[in-house]
This record gives sequence, structure tokens and C-alpha cells, in this order.
Amino acid sequence: MKAWNILVTGSSGLIGSEAVEYFDRQGHRVVGADNNMRRVFFGPPGDTLWNLERLKGTTKHFTPTALDIRDREGVMTLFREHRFDLVIHCAAQPSHDKAADIALLDFEVNALGTVNLLEAARQHCREAAFIFMSTNKVYGDSPNEKPLRETETRYDFADPADFEGIDENCRIDRTLHSLFGASKVAGDIYAQEYGQYFGMGVGIFRGGCLTGPSHSGVELHGFLSYLMKVALSDRPYTVYGYKGKQVRDNVHSFDVVRAFEEFARNPRPGEVYNLGGGRDNSVSMLEAIARIEALTGRKIKWTYSDQARKGDHICYISNLAKFKSHYPGWDVTRSLDSILGEMVAAEREHSHRVQTGR
Ligand SMILES: NC(=O)c1ccc[n+]([C@@H]2O[C@H](COP(=O)([O-])OP(=O)(O)OC[C@H]3O[C@@H](n4cnc5c(N)ncnc54)[C@H](O)[C@@H]3O)[C@@H](O)[C@H]2O)c1
Repeated sequence: MKAWNILVTGSSGLIGSEAVEYFDRQGHRVVGADNNMRRVFFGPPGDTLWNLERLKGTTKHFTPTALDIRDREGVMTLFREHRFDLVIHCAAQPSHDKAADIALLDFEVNALGTVNLLEAARQHCREAAFIFMSTNKVYGDSPNEKPLRETETRYDFADPADFEGIDENCRIDRTLHSLFGASKVAGDIYAQEYGQYFGMGVGIFRGGCLTGPSHSGVELHGFLSYLMKVALSDRPYTVYGYKGKQVRDNVHSFDVVRAFEEFARNPRPGEVYNLGGGRDNSVSMLEAIARIEALTGRKIKWTYSDQARKGDHICYISNLAKFKSHYPGWDVTRSLDSILGEMVAAEREHSHRVQTGR
């Protein structure tokens, strides 16, 4: 098989780093673009340099750069120099809550940065497959309009027709998104348009909770990763609203990258897919706390605030039927238990490295 030239933006982040390792292992040449802006958004705990250092040690064909995707000239130059076969765009301001404090920066990274990359691809590698990592926040809070029922530990869909979760027909306008959701809608619609208008192989993946051991989890982004850190370091945790019964579906970064690979081998122009862990990998806050406590043998010091996060989903499960029907070779391969087990091991190793400086 011919080696591909691949660009991964956000290459030191959770999904980007998994993509770098995965495609590097297969012998493809991977260029990374990451300026460690996660540290700018979230301070030192969001720093991703540890992950970049890790990648340098584990990869063979990886060329990292600190390119800022807002730098249009820099982006154009990179695309002119490399004729990419595949672009995996994961760089983002990823936090729903943070966006309100940094509205312009959020827009520049999520909307403008995405258009810079799409336009560079159109000008320099129009035949490339292009993957845009979008979010379920493009639906705003419209999933909350679904009738719900309440159990002892979670909210769930009341209508059996909703059992498999939210599909791509969910409304994306006339709803409360958060500024993050709005800037991602802009990127999402542009990505669809470059696919449909120019016939480019652009896939848009609306993520549920994406997770895995390489997340630099912070309170405002990366819920399982942050909860795990809190559990292992005895720090306090606040659950916001909905009695802790709000539900998220979690997918391992490996399964996300496997979906990218399926799409890249057989791209479609401007298709939108929901991508998460589905019902089997769904968990409420209360259930996640109980499972992590059982796994780590430690009590999480959590408190409850009545104030729900603005625009928060009460129950969100990604309906995976569309992606599975287009790409039957893909499925979720990592269960929630195996994800949590891997995260405990990674978090223990990470804190050991920080404590010993090794
Ligand atoms: N993690 C989730 O739960 C989740 C859920 C839904 C959607 N998503 C989306 O998936 C994508 C990847 O998320 P993630 O969890 O890997 O995020 P992440 O924060 O771990 O990684 C993003 C990376 O992008 C880099 N970056 C930010 N701005 C940049 C810029 N201007 N130029 C270059 N690099 C920049 C950051 O330094 C970071 O390393 C994002 O688009 C995010 O919105 C994530």
C-alpha cells in the first residue's frame, strides 16, 4: 500500500495524538500542527507538551510543527509544501463553558481556523480526504426536548423510538448552543459546504464524549479524564445540576481514529456523522462516580450545585446507525470498563512521571 501524507491538526491533543500514533504505526508520513494552545485556554493543567514528547518517542515518521491554524499564510505554505492525501482536523478551542470568556479567540480558532484549512485543501490537495472533528454541541440544547424518564441513577429517553440515541436529523438551529457550539456550527457548515459545493471528500464527525488516556483533562473539558484525576488526587469535584443524572456516551480515541480511517479509505462529500460510544458506553455522572470509586478504591469528594451548566445536555447518546451503515467495517471496540481501566493506569503513570521528573 502507498504511504499517505497526512496532516493532523491538534496533534498533541487527545484525538490528534491518537491519529498520529495510529497512522505512523502503519508507515504513513504524518505532519502535526499544534501550538499548545490548550495551555492558553486552560492554564498549566491543559499543557500538552508531555504528550508531544511522548509522541516523539513512540513514532517514526512524524514531523511535529507549532503551526497556529489561525495563521493563514503559514497554513497555505504548509499545504503548498506537502501534498496531503488526508487532513485530520482536530485542533480546537474545545470547551463549551470557556468560550464565553474568550469569544473572539474561540471564533478565530474554531471557525476561521477551519476555513483556513478547508480553503488550503481546496487550493492544494482537492482530492484529499478531509476530516473535521465537530461536536454534538452543534445541536445546542435541542436534544433536551426529547421526552425523558428518570431512574434512580440517570435520565433516559422515554420514547422507545429514541432508544439508540440522537441521530443526524436533530435540529441545529433555534437552540441554545453556547458560543463554542456556535463557532463549531460555523466550522461544521463550512466543512459540509466544501464537500457539497466543491465535491471534496469532507467528513464531519459530531463527537459525543471522546476520551482516552492521552487527554490533558481539565475541569472545563474532558469529563472522565478530569474525574479520574480528581479521584486519584483527592481533589474536590462539583456536579452541576440535573441531580447528577445527566448522561453522556463515551468513545475511546482509538475507535474515533478507526472511524477516520474507514472514512478516509472511502470518502463521501460533506457527510455528517454522529460519533460517540453509543448506548452501551453511556453513563450518568452518578454512575461514573460510582464506577470510578469502585475501580480506584477511593472516595471522590464531590459536592452538588443546583445550577446546571448553561445549555448542558440532560441525556445525550450518539445514534451510530448512519456511520455503521455507510462503513460496516467499523464498530465500537472499547467498552466503558476497559476505557476506565486504561485511564486509571495512565493517570497513575502520569502522576508518577510528574512526581519523579521521569
Ligand atoms: N474531547 C471531547 O469530549 C470532544 C467531544 C466532542 C468534540 N470534540 C472535538 O474533537 C476535537 C479534538 O478534541 P480533543 O479532545 O482532542 O481536544 P484537545 O484539546 O485535547 O486537542 C486539541 C489540540 O488543538 C491544539 N490547538 C488549539 N488551538 C490551536 C491552534 N490555533 N493551532 C494549532 N493547534 C491548536 C491544542 O493545543 C490541543 O493540543 C476538537 O475539535 C473538539 O472540539 C471533542
